Amino acid sequence: MTTTLITGANRGLGKETARQLVAAGHTVWVGARDEDRGRATADELGALSVQLDVTDDASVAAAIEHIAAHGGLDVLVNNAGMAAPGLTGPEALEVFDTNAVSIVRVTQAALPLLRESANPVVVNVSSALGSFTANHDPARPASSYPAIVYGASKAAVSMLTVQYARAVPEVKFNAVEPGYSRTGLGGLSRPDARPAEVGARNIVRLATIGTDGPTGTFEEDDGVQLGW
Ligand SMILES: NC(=O)c1ccc[n+]([C@@H]2O[C@H](COP(=O)([O-])OP(=O)(O)OC[C@H]3O[C@@H](n4cnc5c(N)ncnc54)[C@H](OP(=O)(O)O)[C@@H]3O)[C@@H](O)[C@H]2O)c1
Repeated sequence: MTTTLITGANRGLGKETARQLVAAGHTVWVGARDEDRGRATADELGALSVQLDVTDDASVAAAIEHIAAHGGLDVLVNNAGMAAPGLTGPEALEVFDTNAVSIVRVTQAALPLLRESANPVVVNVSSALGSFTANHDPARPASSYPAIVYGASKAAVSMLTVQYARAVPEVKFNAVEPGYSRTGLGGLSRPDARPAEVGARNIVRLATIGTDGPTGTFEEDDGVQLGW
């Protein structure tokens, strides 16, 4: 039995990832900063829920302790994320804290549990907007989409993935671009965005790799490598 924690799983890509991983047979912990919304999502999906604000050390520590008390943890999906409307210092700090610093916070807390797993896996949900390659390719939407702070925070997610993959070889760390998806962040009524369930498939593919799976990669659709 594989046990998976997904941060920010009460809606959007995190929720669809939870739905698909439950269907794949995982025991899924829906991490949500709002306890009621997390519980409602977990009840709907046949998952478990845990209060988890990725910007709050005490909340993260309590969530991992709670999961430990119920068994182990095999897969961590660092999915929680945000984009700020403005470019003030406090907004930029919040975006970096939520999208990038949180990966250090949650991963460090979860590592002792992950190291007990026979197949420990971490998936970091990144974005083509954080890819230098995509930002320099005129054929890609990322090259013309303004995302100063969000894009920079996702570039940090990429480097965290590379560094963790090298520093902690006993755990597989991969970054993923889910693709432009219809969510609160992507835009719920954008016709050019894909349904969240389609974007979530990219996350699910990396969350279900076997012991021979990759580490230190950045994948998009169909497992194709996205340039860093
Ligand atoms: N949608 C896209 O087109 C797209 C493309 C590439 C990458 N991504 C990435 O995909 C991930 C999921 O985003 P989404 O599109 O599904 O957006 P979303 O629908 O807006 O969902 C974001 C989730 O993150 C949670 N969250 C935000 N701050 C949090 C915090 N401090 N602690 C815990 N949870 C927090 C939200 O919780 P609340 O409900 O409490 O706010 C929500 O569950 C993000 O990392 C995003 O950058 C999205």
